[in-house]
Amino acid sequence: MKSTGQFECIECGFQSPKYYGRCPQCQAWNTMVESESGETAAADESTPVNLPQKISEIDPREIGRLVTGMDEFDRVLGGGIVSHSVILIGGEPGVGKSTLLLEVSALLSAKGKKVLYYSGEESALQIKLRAERLAIHSDNIYLFTIGTLEDLKSHVRELKPDFLIIDSIQTLTSKKTAHISGSVSSLRYVTAEIIELGKKSGITVFIIGHITKEGQLAGPKTLEHMVDAVLYFQGETQTDIRLLRAEKNRFGPMNEIGIFQMSEKGLTSVNDPSQILIQNRQSHAPGTAIFPAMNGLRPLLTEIQALVSESPFAGNPRRIAIGFDNYRLSMLISIIEKKLKLPFYKSDVFLNITGGMVIREPAADLAVCSALISSYKNINPRPNSIVMGEVGLTGEIRPISFLETRLKESIRQGFSTMCLPAGQSQSPNYHDISVVSIENIRDLLDFIKK
Ligand SMILES: Nc1ncnc2c1ncn2[C@@H]1O[C@H](COP(=O)(O)OP(=O)(O)OP(=O)(O)O)[C@@H](O)[C@H]1O
Ligand SMILES: [Mg+2]
Repeated sequence: MKSTGQFECIECGFQSPKYYGRCPQCQAWNTMVESESGETAAADESTPVNLPQKISEIDPREIGRLVTGMDEFDRVLGGGIVSHSVILIGGEPGVGKSTLLLEVSALLSAKGKKVLYYSGEESALQIKLRAERLAIHSDNIYLFTIGTLEDLKSHVRELKPDFLIIDSIQTLTSKKTAHISGSVSSLRYVTAEIIELGKKSGITVFIIGHITKEGQLAGPKTLEHMVDAVLYFQGETQTDIRLLRAEKNRFGPMNEIGIFQMSEKGLTSVNDPSQILIQNRQSHAPGTAIFPAMNGLRPLLTEIQALVSESPFAGNPRRIAIGFDNYRLSMLISIIEKKLKLPFYKSDVFLNITGGMVIREPAADLAVCSALISSYKNINPRPNSIVMGEVGLTGEIRPISFLETRLKESIRQGFSTMCLPAGQSQSPNYHDISVVSIENIRDLLDFIKK
């Protein structure tokens, strides 16, 4: 790198011929780095390299999608990897991020693509051991371990890979930001450089990111804005099921999830996820309800569990929801109290969406109410029944979206009784199932009590 004698703040872009410990413009500490030649203010005046293009003259076929063949992975990305995109994958320690991306690397390499895999956490030998375990013997995967951003850039220029994998972004440091290594500013700087490298060289980049205790990607929220897609890899430590969820995707539906099974031999796509999600349920136990939740474009049968028990905290009972919005739970409890005269204020309420799933749809309201009432009254839910509908504040049941798709999946899994919003309970297609029309939350109580 040629020294320019110019300094630049990596937070706000302030430029100066003088170094400051604290940026005079944004007041951030230790954020001044020396500019590379060609990046100074003077360069701004020169002829631009990139010219504006007419949108009509851009050939969309240049941006292709590459189908890896790992079905659930392709699904989460909206039908394959969009070339030249940058994808951030976050996940808890040990969930299987490196395994996933090594397997994806092998599939890409089998399609003749060159992959450069940077690991700042494991030695090449450790990665080789993992590859042996996963039976990966690809010729086209190059490993580069524990180096700096500047070294990585020069390897990319020489090797010209099609795909670059950064495992993990927190372990990639730059010589320029060595003095603030590990800081948010440094992380943002390294990420921006990697994104620019990918976009300029036409490389598709996967970035692995650590997550915090709260389950958020470690580092500034801006990282999520900078990349094209943000995926979260999740799993319960006791089970071998892993979920890959698209939190953001510029090229596919949000909230799409992929389901995998982890074994010694690696990850395999689960073909019938609904089956896996409801297989361990205590069939028809009080406090449960089955709801076909939309994840992206696919409905997955999900078990909702509620526990309503007498509260030791008189006047201040607990309301705790896992995988469901706490405020929405409180709202539904209030509707039940007011409309059905059930004194929930004396009870603690716990709600859990099993299998680590998250439900954000109002269409699940009625199923949540059903689980709550069934637990409160200690009544088994009706065998093989599905409950769906949005609950309004006056207790009325409102129509839901994707009804046909949800019904189809429920019938496929052997469910035969469907509680539906009154407005959606009439259809000539419902001949194989028994439909219960629910107009108001009171109808739900009658249905459960029967
Ligand atoms: N011999 C094995 N048999 C079965 N499963 C294994 C075996 N070795 C590793 N695993 C699985 O792989 C997981 C670790 O995978 P991996 O190293 O890819 O995770 P990671 O998310 O990259 O972790 P880190 O945050 O430490 O980088 C383990 O939690 C375990 O589920
Ligand atoms: Mg790892």
